Amino acid sequence: MKRSEINRLLYEGVDFLEKMNFKLPPFAYWSPEQWKEKIEGYDEIFYHMLGWDITDFGSGDFYHIGLLLFTLRNGNLKNRDCPKTYAEKVMIIKEEQITPFHFHEYKTEDIINRGGGNLLIQLYNSTQDAQFDDTDILVSSDGRNYTVKAGSIIRLKPGESITLKTKLYHQFWSEKCTGVTLAGEVSMVNDDTTDNRFYIPAGRFPDIQEDEAPVYLLAQDYVKFVNRKNPLDTGGLNVS
Ligand SMILES: [Fe+2]
Repeated sequence: MKRSEINRLLYEGVDFLEKMNFKLPPFAYWSPEQWKEKIEGYDEIFYHMLGWDITDFGSGDFYHIGLLLFTLRNGNLKNRDCPKTYAEKVMIIKEEQITPFHFHEYKTEDIINRGGGNLLIQLYNSTQDAQFDDTDILVSSDGRNYTVKAGSIIRLKPGESITLKTKLYHQFWSEKCTGVTLAGEVSMVNDDTTDNRFYIPAGRFPDIQEDEAPVYLLAQDYVKFVNRKNPLDTGGLNVS
């Protein structure tokens, strides 16, 4: 992805969050120059790769297969001194913009529609060899448990949520003609280096063509622009 495109998408994302009255922490808005001043006391941001995250899953077509996220908090399974066993993200999902089928080996996550459009989530159980299973799926949604057929699409209207257990394949997008969705994720600690299984192998972190200066840094930029590397070497960027 070109840095100019990422900048534009981040500006759009910031405007959308402002419109939705969702406030991000201060480090969301630091410039690259400000990041360089954050020497003491900010290890948690770098260790846990908090902040902006954007991906086109290697599609080259962000608007159809892609996602813009911000990780607000996360733990680290490799840091036993970290008291956080949880993570929180916010995702900005455009109409018909797909986050492709994947499941998590370790992480259970709640996906929450925080407002805007309707969020559609399609589900399959997985087989032992990580294929789609044809078995019914037990859905847990806002205190209700019920069963649906394999491949069913669940519609989450603003305020509604769903719990996605391990090994449950899910892909999601914002429903056409309902607008951009502000989605939250509340989950167990996230580690993308080990925990994500995509049905079709997908790229996760874009190679960035630096055709202009970054306005805000992505978490994947910290090494390059701040010279701060996660010493726990988790990789640590998040997919929902
Ligand atoms: Fe997920």
